[in-house]
Amino acid sequence: MPNRSDLPDLGLFPFFRGLPSSLLEFWRPRFNRQRVSKRQPLRFPPSCSDVIFFVLLGKVKISYYSEDGKEFTVAILSPGEVYSEHSLALATAVEETEVLYLSMADFRSMMDESPELARRLIRVLGQILRMTNDLVIDLAFREAASRLARVFWRTVQSEKNQRMILNPESSDLARRSPTSSDYCSVHLTHEELASLSGTTRQTVSEILSHWERQGILSTQRGQVLILNLDRLEEKLDT
Ligand code: HEM
Repeated sequence: MPNRSDLPDLGLFPFFRGLPSSLLEFWRPRFNRQRVSKRQPLRFPPSCSDVIFFVLLGKVKISYYSEDGKEFTVAILSPGEVYSEHSLALATAVEETEVLYLSMADFRSMMDESPELARRLIRVLGQILRMTNDLVIDLAFREAASRLARVFWRTVQSEKNQRMILNPESSDLARRSPTSSDYCSVHLTHEELASLSGTTRQTVSEILSHWERQGILSTQRGQVLILNLDRLEEKLDT
């Protein structure tokens, strides 16, 4: 059952930041909070059809599946990011995760009250479009090694850019300056890396072993430590 209590201040999400607090406080009770266990799909109650959701804590993988069960991951969402159920992708918690969600009907009414919200939606959809274009270009023109390097690069950049993360003490979104080790540690399994770079697990393992011998990274259980970002950058266009 969704838990409606203990909802955070919506202004902590980049999507809502700076909007009038009267608007955010009015709509806050319409949001629901939901906890999702690691590797479980996000499922919303049928009574709240077609929702948009915001990641509050953890990470959410956005994937599409082929008829024979192959997975292609288009994004891994971090705290503060938003996505929609009607995108028809499967959203899965990569780790213990909490999301806030809102019905599309309520979101539409919220936008009716705030043209700025509609502008922000256009910005989010533009970012999704750019990300999709990048994926298409990568798949059409680049080798697996270059695609894998780009997955690492995007993950590291996204960690760097992410200033809004969850503060476990207060169970709320809070600002924190990431340390250099945050930038270089990529918590993804070989399987997830394969799904993100449109290749097989075996190809990922081969490329990682090669780069490990070159001192670019080191692999540990469930994570990859980037040791030399400059050398990794050289791989982006190979
Ligand atoms: C890949 C991601 C997405 C896809 C493919 C997608 C697709 C669509 C489609 C096809 C429609 C038209 C639906 C219809 O009229 O029948 C639509 C409408 C809409 N989408 Fe998305 N969407 C995506 C992401 C998002 C996100 C992240 C948000 C919110 C943050 C969002 C908010 C909306 C809204 C507000 C409407 C208008 C709904 C209405 O007024 O009826 N979408 N989207």
